[in-house]
Amino acid sequence: MSEKTANLAVNGKTMNLAVLDGTMGPSVIDVTPLYKESGHFTYDPGFTSTASCQSKITFIDGDKGVLLYRGYPIEELAEQGDFIETCYLLLNGELPNRAQKQEFSSIIKMHTMLHEQFSRFFHGFHRNSHPMSIMVASLGAMSAFYHDSLDITDDRQRDIASFRLISKIPTMAAMAYKYHIGEPFIYPDNNLGYVENFLKMCFAVPCEEYKVNPVFAHALDTIFTLHADHEQNASTSTVRLAGSSGANPFACIAAGVACLWGPAHGGANEACLKMLEQIGTKDHIPEYIARAKDHNDPFRLMGFGHRVYKNYDPRARIMQNICKSVLAELGVHHDPLFEVAMELEQIALTDEYFIEKKLYPNVDFYSGIVLKALGFPTSMFTVLFALARSVGWIAQWKEMIEDPQQKIGRPRQLYTGHTKRSYVLMDKRSRAIS
Ligand code: ACO
Repeated sequence: MSEKTANLAVNGKTMNLAVLDGTMGPSVIDVTPLYKESGHFTYDPGFTSTASCQSKITFIDGDKGVLLYRGYPIEELAEQGDFIETCYLLLNGELPNRAQKQEFSSIIKMHTMLHEQFSRFFHGFHRNSHPMSIMVASLGAMSAFYHDSLDITDDRQRDIASFRLISKIPTMAAMAYKYHIGEPFIYPDNNLGYVENFLKMCFAVPCEEYKVNPVFAHALDTIFTLHADHEQNASTSTVRLAGSSGANPFACIAAGVACLWGPAHGGANEACLKMLEQIGTKDHIPEYIARAKDHNDPFRLMGFGHRVYKNYDPRARIMQNICKSVLAELGVHHDPLFEVAMELEQIALTDEYFIEKKLYPNVDFYSGIVLKALGFPTSMFTVLFALARSVGWIAQWKEMIEDPQQKIGRPRQLYTGHTKRSYVLMDKRSRAIS
């Protein structure tokens, strides 16, 4: 039992609840005995004050704008490391040495191909399907193809499932894109690095030589690193909840992809770019700022605000620099969208409404501009996010499965419906039931 306790008085009875300290961040009040001892649940819609698990993977201090993967600041990983190293770090807890990195990299390359039958699966979709709908389905379908990595009680199978996911998701994402635009699938090229291979599978065509632009590859690699994990966000919590029932890892990741798709989560980068295009020019900005502040208008400034960050999202700063480097490489010195974004950011950062509510640019604010500049259509933005986040999901899933205290996730509720009543026969029912 922890030395610190919190006293809670319910109906005259006082309970001593243990206060548990993490290595950083707020301590938590352990309410697990609450129901047994008091007959009450806690109520916390949106989990604004609830820690759902213990984790050693990612730490965020939203007030200070800090993001650490396994203790390493995101800025240092993004500037000095790379995505493959980040994957190793998230999965294993430590940065790889040279030999470990090489070995991990070769394992990931070994699994890049999808089962040939898989390509037929794509052909069942409408050509105009949103690539995210194909991703949700094809991630789920992986469980139908890779049976030998579905036993979640076997350490080796869990590792193989993780490698397969990280290796195959770029191939799958590129196929979803190629199918969507009606171009032939491009097989993976294991002579290339992870990001270079993905760019080739997306943008090469069989009739022409394709050369990867190193500035673009570096930009995308950094974007993947920035999105690799973000502790217990909605999609990660979805993966953990799905996995808590013992569901297979690919099915759990498919659930995470579905959750990520929403515009309040991973879909925000797509929504943000559309908003910037809608604003169009700097002179329209005041109109949109006024709309964002109007409580009677559902409009929100996309790419602004975050449940956890009440300061500048550290990823947004890095994303702004990537944006500059990609536009410079393209020889674009005056991109209207980038200019609108910079101006919007300046205005929002000095506006009383945004200051008071601590609304700062989040990672999605600049990412849409970069991804568009790299040649991706908006419908692919969330797919790229899912690709990068899959390593975080699988690392969090593994941590949960390997936790001896793991239980099925089963939240409770405050019931506000009818009390018990008797069944009414059809001809005695007065009102039509819609
Ligand atoms: N524009 C205008 N006002 C906003 C915005 C915004 N983008 N975000 C929050 N607010 C206001 C709300 O209206 C609310 O005002 P009120 O207190 O007067 O009612 C207050 O700020 C708090 O907002 P909540 O919705 O309660 O905050 P919550 O933590 O639940 O939401 C969220 C966070 C969903 C990210 C929200 O800020 C939002 O919708 N942002 C735009 C979408 C976006 O960019 N999402 C990406 C998140 S990052 C990611 O998933 C990778």
